[in-house]
Amino acid sequence: MEQKDLMEKIASLAKRRGFVYQGSELYGGLAGSWDYGPLGVALKNNLKNIWWRMFVESRDDMYGLDADIIMNPNVWKASGHVDTFVDPLAECEKCQRRFRADQLPDKEKCPDCGGKMGSERPFNMMLKTQLGAMEDSSSLAYLRPETAQGIFANFKNIMDSFHPSLPFGVGQIGKAFRNEITPRDFIFRTREFEQMEIEYFIREAEWEKYFENWRQDIWKFLETVGLSPKTVSEFHVPVDDLAHYSKKTIDFEFEFPFGKSELLGLAYRTNYDLSQHSKFSGTELTYFDESAGEKFIPHVIEPSFGVGRLFLAVLVNAYTEDEMNGEVRSYLKFNYKVAPVKVAIFPLLKNKPELVAKAREVYSLVKKTIPQSIFDDNGNIGKRYRRQDEIGTPYCVTIDFQTLDDETVTLRDRDTGEQKRVKIVELETHLKSD
Ligand code: GAP
Repeated sequence: MEQKDLMEKIASLAKRRGFVYQGSELYGGLAGSWDYGPLGVALKNNLKNIWWRMFVESRDDMYGLDADIIMNPNVWKASGHVDTFVDPLAECEKCQRRFRADQLPDKEKCPDCGGKMGSERPFNMMLKTQLGAMEDSSSLAYLRPETAQGIFANFKNIMDSFHPSLPFGVGQIGKAFRNEITPRDFIFRTREFEQMEIEYFIREAEWEKYFENWRQDIWKFLETVGLSPKTVSEFHVPVDDLAHYSKKTIDFEFEFPFGKSELLGLAYRTNYDLSQHSKFSGTELTYFDESAGEKFIPHVIEPSFGVGRLFLAVLVNAYTEDEMNGEVRSYLKFNYKVAPVKVAIFPLLKNKPELVAKAREVYSLVKKTIPQSIFDDNGNIGKRYRRQDEIGTPYCVTIDFQTLDDETVTLRDRDTGEQKRVKIVELETHLKSD
């Protein structure tokens, strides 16, 4: 299959089945804006919950945080974003369309109208807003371009409330905004997106050890959501291309249908951010090591995940076409943890009240322990199976006339299409929960 066709098929399935809709579609859309539908939000929440559980809740060295999106503008002066968070912009002298200069196939010629391109200039990607009733420079504020700074700005608060010992980290999930010149590739590059970031505070001498620990933990997480080294690879960013704060960065890249591109990043940010915030705020942001009797500004390792990109990678990875019962079938091979619906429960026939009542009873029972289960009696059974396959539901349970006699149901496996009879009381043990 052509990779372009694959992307179109996935975007069309995502829309048809309620994963991702075009943002503001009713008004002709808005560039780089996408809305997550009922199944999209379930899948996204599953990914965020797996991340939070693995990297925050299950560890004793991690703290959670939810900082505000709009921060004091001095945060962005200190972090370097006001001065250096720029992309190169070029404008066509004829049609005035603007492009990212580094993505132009021909630096001289407009890809739209063929006109002459003007010279390159830096374009700051932070989205600006005004706070309060005054519309002058005193009211200027920014929507955060990364969640990370909320963590640095709360370093002292967390130290004062919890007195953690090094190493320790702070994790946060939240929205970030960037005024991308050319949002593109479905939900890959958007102007509004979510990040899941960790700032892990360490002693400088130990940065290589913890960088390596996080590299391995990232691989464990990717495996848990179903991504393997077959589709993800590490790109060690050359020194000349590093962000202004980084001494070492690995981009984890996924084979998207439009090419291998950055899924997430792992960076050694040194003590750049805490030093800058100390300087700009006039507040000491240090750690006192009692055993050594010394005070210093901790260094930081930063694993930074984009939720939308992870969502897209998981979707692309799960998209499968095969042949079942002589028909071509497309389905999403999500693993159980990630699947937005884990089990669908059907009465064989919609017009038999005794079957519907029994199916409802089984559904209520299952729903208690597996909230991501649904009841479906729409269309014939073949259509229901196809619909559930297409949204990636690992199991379907059908209640038929035999159920009324012997309290057994049919359990169908999404990937193989195999069906087996199981007792209702044993159903849960058959529904894989790992
Ligand atoms: N705090 C570090 C940081 O923000 P980054 O490489 O600029 O580093 C981290 O961004 C991750 O955020 C990326 O790997 C990507 O997953 C996601 N991301 C960045 N810009 C994005 C955009 N415009 N649309 C969607 N996701 C984006």
